[in-house]
Amino acid sequence: MTGVLMEVPLLDLKAQYATIREQVRAAVDDVFESQRFILGPHVAALEEEFARFCGAPFAIGVASGTDALLLSLKALGVGPGDAVVTVPYTFFATAGTIVNLGARPLFVDIEPAGFNLDPEQLRKFMDQDCAFDMRARKLIHRASGARIKAIVAVHLYGQCAAMDEILALAERNQLPVVEDACQAVGAKHHERKAGTMGDLGCFSFFPSKNLGGVGDGGMIVSCNEQLAQHVRLLRNHGAHPKYYHKMVGFNSRLDEIQAAVLRVKLAHLETWSQARRCNAADYDDLFQKAGLSGRIQTPPVLAGNQHIFHQYIIRTPKRDELRAVLQARSIGTEIYYPVSLHEQECFRSLGYRATDFPRSSEAAAQTLALPIYPELTHEQRAYAVRCIADFFS
Ligand SMILES: Cc1ncc(COP(=O)(O)O)c(C=O)c1O
Repeated sequence: MTGVLMEVPLLDLKAQYATIREQVRAAVDDVFESQRFILGPHVAALEEEFARFCGAPFAIGVASGTDALLLSLKALGVGPGDAVVTVPYTFFATAGTIVNLGARPLFVDIEPAGFNLDPEQLRKFMDQDCAFDMRARKLIHRASGARIKAIVAVHLYGQCAAMDEILALAERNQLPVVEDACQAVGAKHHERKAGTMGDLGCFSFFPSKNLGGVGDGGMIVSCNEQLAQHVRLLRNHGAHPKYYHKMVGFNSRLDEIQAAVLRVKLAHLETWSQARRCNAADYDDLFQKAGLSGRIQTPPVLAGNQHIFHQYIIRTPKRDELRAVLQARSIGTEIYYPVSLHEQECFRSLGYRATDFPRSSEAAAQTLALPIYPELTHEQRAYAVRCIADFFS
């Protein structure tokens, strides 16, 4: 048995900070010296740099990834009596924002390899559970009578959903698509960056994300000028010019300090993503050499995708026992997410049964995130894999 040989935290932000400390401090100092904290030059510059990074013409900084989703759906006119299609296996905010706009989330199951919206299930849902009202040009959910206003496709763990198929189905039903790219900054699907394929793309700068700020932050990107202007207004109480309100919006601005730090980090993001990909390839190799391929499932990179490995997710029916053993060996892991959204207490009124989305429920029961951050060493990965091999021996 391998004893405790080293600490392997799930994430080590201090290791990253050590490599950029001077740059971050200079950026923060710059904001303090300017005493401009709201919608100053750093936010404007980050929006330009982020738009360029994604290959989209417009980017709008907002207060969080959650707000990016909220403002995007609001700009698409989602409101009371409407419904929005999304997956039940995702972070809570994907569906929470739909409910906070007075609308109803309609769940469609995932494909089990990449954990994202399954286009085949989406097609079935649209054909069997919905009806297209030709005169009103609306897609109606038969059981609830709600008008479906949008699809939210999540790119979970840093890998894009099957966007070509999803966009084709959306177009057939005249539905806009919001990409929840909160975990997928810089990920590619057939050479297009996450967030730029649908109508609006949403990003989170939560500190543990691949591009993490020093607090909450988010960004919306779009190729649609009208929608971009709409969310730009929404983030600042719908005012333009100041004190002249075209609509009722929110206070959801990205802080200047966040933008200043994120600009420093954005310049390193490609290098960090490459390091994550190398770490993932090394894990794959170590698992194979340890003869664990039949015991655990490692995360596949699906055709046409460039993964950014926000998380490296393994799968095993013995997930909980394995996690306990790794914890005892000082290896940090996490379960994203232990309860599929359709089984959450707060969504009971939606009327779903626990068995409605078996792939989501199974993923919630079997997946485990291993440390994958860029500064993780080969020795740490090898130790983690040795401990996993011990568990299965
Ligand atoms: C898939 C997904 N959607 C939405 C969010 C919400 O982002 P934030 O925490 O910045 O509000 C997150 C991040 O936590 C996420 O992972």
